[in-house]
Amino acid sequence: MRRYARIIGTGSYLPPRRLTNDDLAAELATRGLETSDEWIVERTGIRARHFAAPDVTSSDLALEASRKAIEAAGIDAQDIDLIIVATSTPDMVFPSTAAILQNKLGITNGCPAFDVQAVCSGFVYALTVADSMIQSGAAKRVLVVGSEVFSRILDFNDRTTCVLFGDGAGAVVLEASDEPGILSTELHADGSHVGILCVPGNVSGGNVLGDPLLKMDGQAVFKLAVSVLDKAARATLEKAGLTEADIDWLIPHQANIRIMQSTARKLKLSMDKVVVTVDQHGNTSAASIPLALDHGVRTGQVKKGQTVLLEGVGGGFTWGAVLLKM
Ligand SMILES: CC(C)(COP(=O)(O)OP(=O)(O)OC[C@H]1O[C@@H](n2cnc3c(N)ncnc32)[C@H](O)[C@@H]1OP(=O)(O)O)[C@@H](O)C(=O)NCCC(=O)NCCS
Repeated sequence: MRRYARIIGTGSYLPPRRLTNDDLAAELATRGLETSDEWIVERTGIRARHFAAPDVTSSDLALEASRKAIEAAGIDAQDIDLIIVATSTPDMVFPSTAAILQNKLGITNGCPAFDVQAVCSGFVYALTVADSMIQSGAAKRVLVVGSEVFSRILDFNDRTTCVLFGDGAGAVVLEASDEPGILSTELHADGSHVGILCVPGNVSGGNVLGDPLLKMDGQAVFKLAVSVLDKAARATLEKAGLTEADIDWLIPHQANIRIMQSTARKLKLSMDKVVVTVDQHGNTSAASIPLALDHGVRTGQVKKGQTVLLEGVGGGFTWGAVLLKM
């Protein structure tokens, strides 16, 4: 009998400071930059985002989201036997945010903990790794988290990028089960596109070399994103012997409503089958899919037994999809 990885609890957390587009436009105006609620909403669908306080790190946000997911799963945190955190904004160069999170959660069982770096596809990558570890028998209960403080790497003198992103965290607890959970997964990367979305700085000899702020060619990213997502989605459906008609919910990476609409259209899904949080969260990178999933679960939209397609795309260029039964 196949051993599945099933989601038994979800959680999420947004830092309290919320900025509407008007709030952000007012802040940017003090730097001599012009933007507007109208421009941001029309091009992206974003209306607000949350920013963490300066002393709050990814592991802090991850901790809050994880506690909620563990509570929803109804398990003891000590029973978690693997922690994977997807983040591009880790607390430190090392150790991993996952190891820091393990300590903050008070987990003392010595379970492995590591980070996955696939930018906005990070959660889909992390979930796929967790699924493989569960299927192989190497893990039974896995905490998978996407957590980001993207506000730290935004260039607030670049209006083409700083209006798009926000901070937050989302988490799931996966458990080994005979009942279907994750049905199929599909991951890809094409490193020839490193330059269109990157933070090209690094730490060397006590200094930051290069530029540690986000750079993006928005139009190139947009074109690539819409061209790859539906193929990954279709590949997961084919592997599971299902079709688009079997999808109850599409939960895409929340980067831009126009990318989400395009993917839904290609999969012949109406927008009522798409969980949308980009309007309220902006793009929270690796946190966006688990934040949207938890929103769907807690608002009663996403229910046990339903078929859900998660898909992510981001820097690398990386992309992928996970098809699962809740
Ligand atoms: C970034 C993005 C919203 C820009 O939208 P666009 O329609 O491509 O807009 P353009 O870059 O062509 O810019 C159009 C104009 O708006 C201006 N503009 C850019 N940012 C602006 C802002 N925040 N406010 C007001 N005007 C802005 C540009 O300077 C340009 O002005 P010009 O015509 O006078 O030169 C869009 O390309 C996008 O969403 N790309 C994908 C980004 C993404 O999702 N990244 C994460 C993937 S994980």
